Amino acid sequence: MSAPATQDVTVLDLPFFDVRVSDATLGSEVARLFEQNHSLPGIIVMEQNRFRGLVSRSQFFQRLGRLFGIEVYSSRPITAFLDSLPSPPLQMPAETTVQNAAILCLARPVEYVYDPFVVNIEDEPPRLIDFLALILKQTELLTAAQIEAHAQRAAAVSASNAKSDFLANMSHELRTPLTAIIGYGEILVEDVKASQLDESIPRLEAIIKSGVHLLEMINGLLDLAKIEARRMDLFLTTFSLPDLLLEVSQVTKPLIDKNGNEFTLSADSTLTEMHSDEAKLRQSLLNLLSNAAKFTNQGRVSLEVRRETDNAGDWALFLVSDTGIGMSETQMTRLFESFYQADSSISRRYGGTGLGLSLSKQFCEMLGGKLTVQSVVNQGTTFNLKVPIRSKERAGHD
Ligand SMILES: Nc1ncnc2c1ncn2[C@@H]1O[C@H](COP(=O)(O)OP(=O)(O)O)[C@@H](O)[C@H]1O
Ligand SMILES: [Mg+2]
Repeated sequence: MSAPATQDVTVLDLPFFDVRVSDATLGSEVARLFEQNHSLPGIIVMEQNRFRGLVSRSQFFQRLGRLFGIEVYSSRPITAFLDSLPSPPLQMPAETTVQNAAILCLARPVEYVYDPFVVNIEDEPPRLIDFLALILKQTELLTAAQIEAHAQRAAAVSASNAKSDFLANMSHELRTPLTAIIGYGEILVEDVKASQLDESIPRLEAIIKSGVHLLEMINGLLDLAKIEARRMDLFLTTFSLPDLLLEVSQVTKPLIDKNGNEFTLSADSTLTEMHSDEAKLRQSLLNLLSNAAKFTNQGRVSLEVRRETDNAGDWALFLVSDTGIGMSETQMTRLFESFYQADSSISRRYGGTGLGLSLSKQFCEMLGGKLTVQSVVNQGTTFNLKVPIRSKERAGHD
């Protein structure tokens, strides 16, 4: 039911007038034809089978109205009138679009703008079309195009809402079976250990690992989808920073130990309370620390928290440093993109989904801060996560 596109409608779709006279017709007869039909905007003059000219109603009566006009034009063939015109009429080929025809018509000198025009069609007599009919059609097309655009926009908005709703509902559907797979896998590992069916353990552990990986990926994707749909809300609360730091250090400890790394934590002692989104800050710090632990072997990982004050306010700086594999300039430029991992061997060797940094950066920006990185290949990496000590509710967030 969609309207034809504006550019598909041509002048052949317009109503036309079929009044033609021969070049021998007298001016008085032409005047009579105009008087008989008050809506007739013009008359085409043919010479045998060829187009000879166009008599526009308004031009014709203007001339008749001049001094001696009636005397000059009434009793002579209409060609006398045609020959007195300063310029030929506007003619156009049949495939001209309504839109282009309107442009051509409106480009005429102002005294001819309202004149009818002629459409030439192969093997058919030329058609005479009223300027008003053209403009009405053009307006109709523009209105239809506008309505169509409105409808499309409304459809897009509703599709996008449907997508967000779907994602919100799907998250539960996806997580539940995965959590079950992982949970039963863990139970089975214990059972198998007890009955000493050792060969089965690696297989079961592979099931758990795949499940955990999928769950992380789904969680990350759902978070990104939420951010994209602008459904990710901030939950600002006032909480103890030392408690949060202790918690993230404890959670990452096994990961840090696994690669034989040393961990140090230092924090400005004046930083006691923060007003921020604790869960998002925790998730970002855990990702930075787990990356540092993952990409460093027999080295050092540190978390340092500093306070900084500038014109824009009070900031908490979280510096997560490691002495690991580091990154090249090119790797760093793409680092914060979703799904980016430095190279395809990374996920095989180190695991991960490539969503962590993209999310951390967006969380940090939602809090009014920023996440930056410095790194040297084979020397190490420092991520600098800077957020306001007191984040504000976002204005204009929908
Ligand atoms: N501390 C780091 N040292 C070296 N490379 C890193 C470090 N942190 C991140 N990277 C690189 O950035 C990529 C993206 O990190 P991230 O978004 O957290 O995804 P993931 O940890 O799932 O791979 C990593 O795969 C790795 O190539
Ligand atoms: Mg990561």
